[in-house]
Amino acid sequence: ATANIPVLCIDGPTASGKGTVAAAVAARLGYHFLDSGAMYRVTALAATRAGLAIAPEQEAAIAALARTLPVRFLDGRVLIGEDDVTDAIRTEEAGMNASRVSALPAVRDALVALQHGFRRLPGLVADGRDMGTVIFPGADLKVYLTASAQTRAERRHQQLLAKGIPAKIADLRADLEARDLRDSSRPVAPLKPAQDALVLDNSTATIEQSVAQVVSWWQGKRPFG
Ligand code: DC
Repeated sequence: ATANIPVLCIDGPTASGKGTVAAAVAARLGYHFLDSGAMYRVTALAATRAGLAIAPEQEAAIAALARTLPVRFLDGRVLIGEDDVTDAIRTEEAGMNASRVSALPAVRDALVALQHGFRRLPGLVADGRDMGTVIFPGADLKVYLTASAQTRAERRHQQLLAKGIPAKIADLRADLEARDLRDSSRPVAPLKPAQDALVLDNSTATIEQSVAQVVSWWQGKRPFG
């Protein structure tokens, strides 16, 4: 079975740097990488394209869609069938829709098996909101990566600027606080640190410093890889 395959979970709020840190840690360790947020983003996009409203009345229909979604992760690209949706799922709107879709319990259930399937040798780094609390509760190491709302808004601003998309820091901060509130107040699998998570606030740290800290914690837990 998969119980002996190492898993390192990195959970935290939006724009905490989790995705970048988790991908870098996975590369450093030579492990597989699960971007669970991308699954919710893809599900929301597929639902919208199928003409379904992202609302509780459509919960069963969206869950059915999620269960049979031909999603593929290939060299950093995200595909639905042959359709490359890497950029389409990264907009602010796609993030908000993903947050809405992720509050529907049947949709969360529908994506569990897909997420467990990423646990393959030599190991997995899993990035999300509930990796340590729900999906891989027995993980070897759980990190809760966070940063102040202001820092996260400034980082998101930089990312958008780099893509030539204008935005106001205050608006971005309001949006991410709204998303945090939704993600952490939902009844099912809310965003919160696992009881045994190590909390890393990287408000004043660089990505490289955060990566080094997580790798050093990992080596403390699994000195032989
Ligand atoms: O990490 P992200 O911004 O790509 O995630 C998009 C949304 O998906 C996020 O607002 C909440 C949801 N999500 C979740 O509920 N559980 C996860 N494990 C990952 C993401």
